[in-house]
Amino acid sequence: MEKSHVLLLLVFFFLSLFHGGIARGIKSQGGSEEWGYVQVRPKAHMFWWLYKSPYRVENPSKPWPIILWLQGGPGASGVGIGNFEEIGPLDTNLQPRNSTWLKKADLLFVDNPVGTGYSFVEDAESFVKTDDEAATDLTTLLMELFNRNESLQKSPLYIVAESYGGKFAVTAGLSILKAIEAGKLKLKLGGVALGNSWISPEDFVFSWGPLLKDVSRLDNNGLRESNSLAEKISQQLKDGQYTDATNTWTDLEVVIDDMSNSVDFYNFLLDSGMSPVALEASWFSNGIFAANRYSRYLKKYSRYLSSLRVSPGNDGGDLDSLMNGAIKKKLKIIPANVSWGGQSDSVFQYLAGDFMKPRIAEVDELLSKGVNVTIYNGQLDVICCTKGTQSWVEKLKWDGLKAFLSKERTPLYCNDDGGTKGFIKSYKNLQFYWILGAGHFVPVEQPCVSLNMAGAITQSPAAEAS
Ligand SMILES: *[C@@H]1O[C@H](CO)[C@@H](O)[C@H](O)[C@H]1NC(C)=O
Ligand SMILES: *[C@@H]1O[C@H](CO)[C@@H](O)[C@H](O)[C@H]1NC(C)=O
Ligand SMILES: *[C@@H]1O[C@H](CO)[C@@H](O)[C@H](O)[C@H]1NC(C)=O
Ligand SMILES: *[C@@H]1O[C@H](CO)[C@@H](O)[C@H](O)[C@H]1NC(C)=O
Repeated sequence: MEKSHVLLLLVFFFLSLFHGGIARGIKSQGGSEEWGYVQVRPKAHMFWWLYKSPYRVENPSKPWPIILWLQGGPGASGVGIGNFEEIGPLDTNLQPRNSTWLKKADLLFVDNPVGTGYSFVEDAESFVKTDDEAATDLTTLLMELFNRNESLQKSPLYIVAESYGGKFAVTAGLSILKAIEAGKLKLKLGGVALGNSWISPEDFVFSWGPLLKDVSRLDNNGLRESNSLAEKISQQLKDGQYTDATNTWTDLEVVIDDMSNSVDFYNFLLDSGMSPVALEASWFSNGIFAANRYSRYLKKYSRYLSSLRVSPGNDGGDLDSLMNGAIKKKLKIIPANVSWGGQSDSVFQYLAGDFMKPRIAEVDELLSKGVNVTIYNGQLDVICCTKGTQSWVEKLKWDGLKAFLSKERTPLYCNDDGGTKGFIKSYKNLQFYWILGAGHFVPVEQPCVSLNMAGAITQSPAAEAS
């Protein structure tokens, strides 16, 4: 190929070149990746990254899907964690990931809400304070990407969320439907999937004590202390003291950490101090935790993920250096004074008043509107444990609930060995996957069955292929 040709392909900007000094979009060589910023409000810039699948299958009766991945935290980066640590084409050593969900769908990572990852705000007033504000911003981003693009509009969009991302997913799902109905957004919403999602904080905090006692990480004394703080949270929620409830939640984490000798909140078979996360335990017990609790919580989250990757001969790439080094350089449009993750703590702090609010009613609304809702849960998680998920599911007012609960489960297998990998139960537009042998980060710990699940959720024409 001619040099000039290569250059043209290499980096070409679409839409207007720059917008207030910030480039809006770039396409990679060959066009398989695109990324950019959308200014969702004045001074609020949201970063997105779209991967087109090389495994795309054309099937007239089954459109090729797009997965919009929403990370949790709030403040954890989908562009970083979801992409490089969980389901994207490359891992943190920039080596190909065999189990990438690109095998089933195109992948759209968004650093949501603004302030997360490469997304940024220019003043503190511009952070979101509620899940609904985050949903509005995300809808604005989708309008910008989809409305002018007929090829994107042909693919149904499936929102797949993890952890706090589940609260964003259900509020965004409703906001997206509203925009579609009003004729403001040209997009087909395929469904919403909630992976180990923080849908009902109250149900989770009441589950922690009994779960950890049953698996020997707490005794009756620990159970009593845990339940008494859960009661306090419950009362605070009843009284509308939502920020206080968030603070009591961190107190409860400290108590459980103390009385369980630092169980890992993302996998109860592990210690949080066992892996490269050794510092965590001392932060907790020194009581410094309270001073900067959210930052500690986010670090814990990403360090646990790093620990999963560590295997002999592979010390795992450091995500922070990668995102602020090689990847920032590749992307070219990240402003020099924006560092990946630099505003994450603030994202959490500004959402502290919404953090403990349940979103069960929003799941109900999606179900009653006929949207396909998938819930999946890793068996070994503590923070969004299966026990807590089951208890909020039983609170749904959806008229299919009784029939759903009485249905039999079907076991799941994956071709790598003969063992049971999970179970699925499905009735009308609700599906529940129990994933065995995985904690909070299901695609990392059970890649094979997760990949099949991603294909099934999205009705991918590649679902049957291996
Ligand atoms: C980066 O610098 C520009 C001007 O130099 C400023 O307008 C902008 O707010 C800064 N962004 C951040 C995130 O600090
Ligand atoms: C929109 O569609 C065209 C194809 O018509 C494609 O080349 C372009 O990259 C798309 N834009 C985005 C943001 O995907
Ligand atoms: C919703 O789920 C049903 C049952 O699994 C399936 O037949 C249907 O194709 C799904 N719809 C979409 C848009 O994914
Ligand atoms: C890659 O995935 C395929 C199934 O998609 C599996 O058969 C194969 O063993 C995997 N390879 C590695 C190295 O994990």
